[in-house]
Amino acid sequence: MCSFPRCWACCCLLLLFSLEVQGSPKPPSAAPEQVHLSYSGEPGSMTVTWTTWVPVPSEVQYGLQPSEPLPFQARGTFSPFVDGGILRRKLYIHRVSLQGLLPGVQYVYRCGSAQGWSRRFRFRALKNGPHWSPRLAVFGDLGADNPRALPRLRRDTQQGMYDAVLHVGDFAYNMDQDNARVGDRFMKLIEPVAASLPYMTCPGNHEERYNFSNYKARFSMPGNTEGLWYSWDLGPAHIISFSTEVYFFLHYGRHLVERQFHWLESDLQKANKNRAVRPWIITMGHRPMYCSNADLDDCTWHESKVRKGLRGKFYGLEDLFYKYGVDLELWAHEHSYERLWPIYNYQVLNGSQEMPYTHPRGPVHIITGSAGCEELLTPFTLFPRPWSALRVKEYGYTRLHILNGTHVHIQQVSDDQDGKIVDDVWVVRPLLGRTMYL
Ligand SMILES: *[C@@H]1O[C@H](CO)[C@@H](O)[C@H](O)[C@H]1NC(C)=O
Ligand SMILES: *[C@@H]1O[C@H](CO)[C@@H](O)[C@H](O)[C@H]1NC(C)=O
Ligand SMILES: *[C@@H]1O[C@H](CO)[C@@H](O)[C@H](O)[C@H]1NC(C)=O
Repeated sequence: MCSFPRCWACCCLLLLFSLEVQGSPKPPSAAPEQVHLSYSGEPGSMTVTWTTWVPVPSEVQYGLQPSEPLPFQARGTFSPFVDGGILRRKLYIHRVSLQGLLPGVQYVYRCGSAQGWSRRFRFRALKNGPHWSPRLAVFGDLGADNPRALPRLRRDTQQGMYDAVLHVGDFAYNMDQDNARVGDRFMKLIEPVAASLPYMTCPGNHEERYNFSNYKARFSMPGNTEGLWYSWDLGPAHIISFSTEVYFFLHYGRHLVERQFHWLESDLQKANKNRAVRPWIITMGHRPMYCSNADLDDCTWHESKVRKGLRGKFYGLEDLFYKYGVDLELWAHEHSYERLWPIYNYQVLNGSQEMPYTHPRGPVHIITGSAGCEELLTPFTLFPRPWSALRVKEYGYTRLHILNGTHVHIQQVSDDQDGKIVDDVWVVRPLLGRTMYL
């Protein structure tokens, strides 16, 4: 959510710097750390990304049997990343793409080189085609401190509950802090989850420093936009990830708003041509269009920028997503959980009074930013708005089960209540007539 001025940080940094110069430095390590996976969008593929502190080769060894030598090998490349902090710390980010994986099969792998290997991790290759039921863990706003949803997420991941993770912006708080050491610490914390499942991201405001450089360098999302916007198919769904931040950090380039908007429109057109095969269109972006939190964030304004665009009329996303029949919109930024009734332009468009999410006549919005960070939870306004269906001010994360082309199951898990399910809804849409809300 909000970010604070950091003028004080300078003196602290100088102090740290002198301490580091005096202390006996460890030799830079060739051993992989911060291992994580992502899906490139190519069926049968998985990308492994990790960090070392010296330039060494990028290799992954993998196989099917945990106890045996790993028979397959893939090579990739690394790129140096220099953080923007005063220490100009240099990381080497390695990327290796595994190809030709057998759908639904579990693999064992390790990454690194002869100069040092990671421990062994396991993942299951994604299934191909639309006819299976992906399970996702969804959340935003997870920090290196107070990461409340993480222990359960780790357990659930190790038990094989999920096929992928969607992290809807705001990582670490912040990845650039303390000369990007906070980023390193966060990526190590998330490793037990992210090295086992495709960890799919979008940028949030906390990634803004140095033109989102930590975000762009550390993740490996599909497409060639450094992960700022991209889409991919998963079972019966087409998932679109984009940056709400282009609307707020205009000094990094107004052209990004326009470029992303045109990309979104053409991607939505393509997705609708393929809608009979992949009926669900799901978006993820950090800052919501609507929210009923007691702060002054964009989503609390009637004409929020994400909803209505720049100056209330340029490149607004609500009209675009409504026009192309987007089913489900996932957001974060507010450190709470909120579900809206199906909505367009402040009009509640329930399927029916009794079954609002069966054949809804507008998109369904979920705001899930309560995974836990140093900024704690965000309060709600005293009275909910008429379009707000449920508000939960508790730490937790969201489970999304895309059962088939017509049925999606959404649950919210509370950490404050030891894993209790505090929200449970089905969204049901017919197979035909999805391309437009009537
Ligand atoms: C910020 O990065 C984007 C691409 O990631 C680039 O198009 C833009 O020009 C950059 N802005 C500045 C001010 O360097
Ligand atoms: C939408 O459905 C909910 C649940 O039945 C109901 O409380 C709400 O009043 C409905 N809103 C409208 C505008 O129909
Ligand atoms: C999806 O699953 C639901 C619940 O099992 C079922 O009622 C529905 O017919 C299924 N839809 C399709 C298209 O198979």
